[in-house]
Amino acid sequence: NSTGNPRHFLSIDDFTYADLRGMLNQAVALKQRLKEGDRPQLLKDKVLAMIFERQSTRTRVSFDVGMRQLGGETIMLSGQEMQLSREETLGDTARVLSRYVDAIMIRILSHADLLELAEAATVPVINGLTRRAHPCQIMADLMTFEEHRGNIKGAKVAWVGDSNNVLHSWVNAAELFECHLSVATPEEYSPEKDLMDDIRRAGEYVKLIEDPREAVEGADLVITDTWVSMGDVDVAERRRVLKPYQVNTNLMALADKNALFMHDLPAHRGDEVTDEVIDGPQSVVWDEAENRLHAQKAILCWAFGVETN
Ligand code: CP
Ligand code: NVA
Repeated sequence: NSTGNPRHFLSIDDFTYADLRGMLNQAVALKQRLKEGDRPQLLKDKVLAMIFERQSTRTRVSFDVGMRQLGGETIMLSGQEMQLSREETLGDTARVLSRYVDAIMIRILSHADLLELAEAATVPVINGLTRRAHPCQIMADLMTFEEHRGNIKGAKVAWVGDSNNVLHSWVNAAELFECHLSVATPEEYSPEKDLMDDIRRAGEYVKLIEDPREAVEGADLVITDTWVSMGDVDVAERRRVLKPYQVNTNLMALADKNALFMHDLPAHRGDEVTDEVIDGPQSVVWDEAENRLHAQKAILCWAFGVETN
C-alpha cells in the first residue's frame, strides 16, 4: 500500500451505492463464515494503528477483534499520550505512521483534522467517528436492518432526537440506498449548514419534521442517539430541550407494528430512550453493536484491496 493511492473510508458520501453494497455483502459473508468457525486470514501480518482522541468501547474492541480474526494486529494509541497533544500536526503524524503501519483508524472530533491526516497518509485511513460523521456505524446499521427486514430500499426510517454525526451519515446513506428518512429534531438542535446541504442534496429521500410523532408514523425503523455527543457542553439545556424527543413505548406505538428500534450506543436510559424500548422486542441494538465487527472487517478488507467470496 505504498502506491500513494490509499483507499480511505472517511464518509458515506465518498462512495457509490455499488461500493457500499459490495462491502455489505462481504460483511454478511464474513459473519456467516465466522459463525461456521472459519476465520480467513485475509489480513495476515497487517498492522492497524488505532488512534483515539476520545472515549470508545465498541469501536475500539470491534476493530481490535476484527483485525485479529483476519490474522492482523493492532496498536492502540491514545491522542493524549502521543506527540499530537504537544502540537505535532495530523499531517506529520500520518507521514510517520505510514512508514510503520499498514492502515490507520482514528476517532477525532475535528473532521478537518481527519481530512488532514488522510491527505498526508500513504496507507488507508478509516474514520472511527468525527463530529461530522460516523460511517462505520451506519454500515453496521444498514447491515442490521437488512438482516432483519431485507433490502432497505423504499423503507421508512425515522430519526428522533439530536442532529449529530450519526444522523449525518444516515442522511448520506438514505440518499444512496433510496430509503425514506424522516428527521425529527427540535429547532434549537436542528441540522447545521453542512448537514443541511447534504439533506437538500438527498432530495425526496430526507424530510425534516419537527414533531417526532409525525416522523415515526408508519416507520419501519426508529433510530435515536445520545442527546449529548462527545464535544457538546450544554448538557442541562440539551436534556431540557430534547425531552419531548424521547423514544418510549407511546412513540413506538405510532410506528409500524413490525418496526425495529436502533441506537448506536452508548445509551442514556431514561433520556433519549426508555428501558421498555431498548430492552423490548423491537430493539435490535445488540445485533447492531455486533455488526460493527463484521461491517468493519469488510471495510478493512476493502481498504486493503483484499477481495474474497
Ligand atoms: N457506537 C459507538 O461508536 O460506540 P463507542 O463510542 O463505544 O465506540
Ligand atoms: N453521537 C455520539 C455517538 C457516539 C458513538 C457522539 O458523537 O458522541
